[in-house]
Amino acid sequence: MTVTIVGTQLGDEGKGALVDRYGGAADVVVRYQGGDNAGHTVVEDGTEYALSLVPSGAVRGKTGVLGNGCVVNPRTLFDEIDTLRERGLEPDVRVARRAHVIFPYHRRLDGIEEETKADADTGTEIGTTGRGIGPTYQDKAGRRGVRVADLLAPDRLGEKLSYVVPQKRAVIEDVHGLEAGEECDVGALQSEYAAYGRRLCEEEMTVDCGNYLADRLAAGDNVVFEGAQGTLIDVDHGNYPYVTSSNPTAGGATVGTGLGPTVVGDGEVVGVVKAYLSRVGAGPMPTELDGDADAEALATEIRERGGEFGTVTGRPRRVGWLDVPILRHATRANGLTGIAVNHLDVLAGLDELAVGHAYELDGETTQTPPATTEAWARCEPVVRSFEPWPAVDWDAVASEGYETLPEAARDYLSYLESELDTEVYTVGVGPDREQTIERVDPWARL
Ligand code: GDP
Ligand code: IMO
Ligand code: MG
Repeated sequence: MTVTIVGTQLGDEGKGALVDRYGGAADVVVRYQGGDNAGHTVVEDGTEYALSLVPSGAVRGKTGVLGNGCVVNPRTLFDEIDTLRERGLEPDVRVARRAHVIFPYHRRLDGIEEETKADADTGTEIGTTGRGIGPTYQDKAGRRGVRVADLLAPDRLGEKLSYVVPQKRAVIEDVHGLEAGEECDVGALQSEYAAYGRRLCEEEMTVDCGNYLADRLAAGDNVVFEGAQGTLIDVDHGNYPYVTSSNPTAGGATVGTGLGPTVVGDGEVVGVVKAYLSRVGAGPMPTELDGDADAEALATEIRERGGEFGTVTGRPRRVGWLDVPILRHATRANGLTGIAVNHLDVLAGLDELAVGHAYELDGETTQTPPATTEAWARCEPVVRSFEPWPAVDWDAVASEGYETLPEAARDYLSYLESELDTEVYTVGVGPDREQTIERVDPWARL
């Protein structure tokens, strides 16, 4: 049985926390796209773990798999594994031999492209995490990428680097007029990355992802697909070009693991919804709280209460009201079977509460985001006000159940259920694993 967990908004919805919550009944947790641009937080009994590559099931001792759709920076991977070991965990991580490898030149080029756009002062920089994600996926699609399997064959690794690195050097030096550094030293890269290959071998970490997962499913194991990023930063379904370079939507779970769509479709697909909206990086955000002092004060209050600072980069996140057109789009694009709504506690006790129910675009009302970012930037939200709920003892509510939520909070959730024609499975009222109200157990649905 499978449960797929996806971000419905712009990332940082609380996917890690939900994967950890559902991870109790899982045997394997699989990342299917993205790389160390993700920052997933798990809080267990007050102890916080911030994971960027190791799947969130690691905190409960589950097998974690990085699927073929991922881009893997072995430096980050081994740093993260070593840090978790120092903290007393024994992460069991497998890496797809078909996954692509992030090299230091990818990170350098990611930074250079962002700086070039910033210097041009045209407002076109994306605000990437600087992890080399875009350049690595470019090399994958350009058929010059290096895969995890290549790290296990030092001669082949050397040949591939000898082909690709001079191209990177030429871009850095001839196109951008900068000096290439150690990120373009073929010999040094070959020896460092072949050493990662040896460690992957010694620790028996590499797998043929599709076969491995098919075997685990055939043996009766439960698998969670852990999406990273979110629907509106999906390269196809997001607001291009302010997107990441992979498919966080549920379809990515099949392409990025080697299991067929029927496997994912036979399971549950749960969309994680932050009860408001946050965005790290550039791009339109029709419900953003900005523009006047009152809106900015409200944004600051929500940002501080919700700890809205990037897990990976520490950047303050932009904050806005819940954007319902985004959620309608995400419900369709992911084929959601249910939603998990988090951060209800963060909105408690505010003086005002609203959502963007629809958009006004060029004199028309629309229920979903338009296909182009230019049109999306012209959208004005049609705002609907809600009665704010009071702050209550959230731990007590988490243990006593859904009916003990303040009535105004239940009204907010019922509105979402009816707009999205889906069910609220869980409600997050705090970051800790226990601060979750479980209403529908997706495993019990299968
Ligand atoms: P992810 O990238 O989707 O896994 O989300 P992040 O971990 O980057 O960001 C979500 C943040 O919200 C983390 O600090 C979580 O610990 C925290 N969090 C998750 N659920 C809740 C919730 O229901 N309430 C509050 N207050 N915080 C939450
Ligand atoms: P999790 O999994 C929020 C954003 C970046 C930038 C754009 C492209 O923690 O939800 P990239 O480095 O991927 O090329 O950056 O995507 N971004 C995220 N925003 N949460 C994330 O991951 C993100 N991963 C990338 O800020 O706007
Ligand atoms: Mg995050």
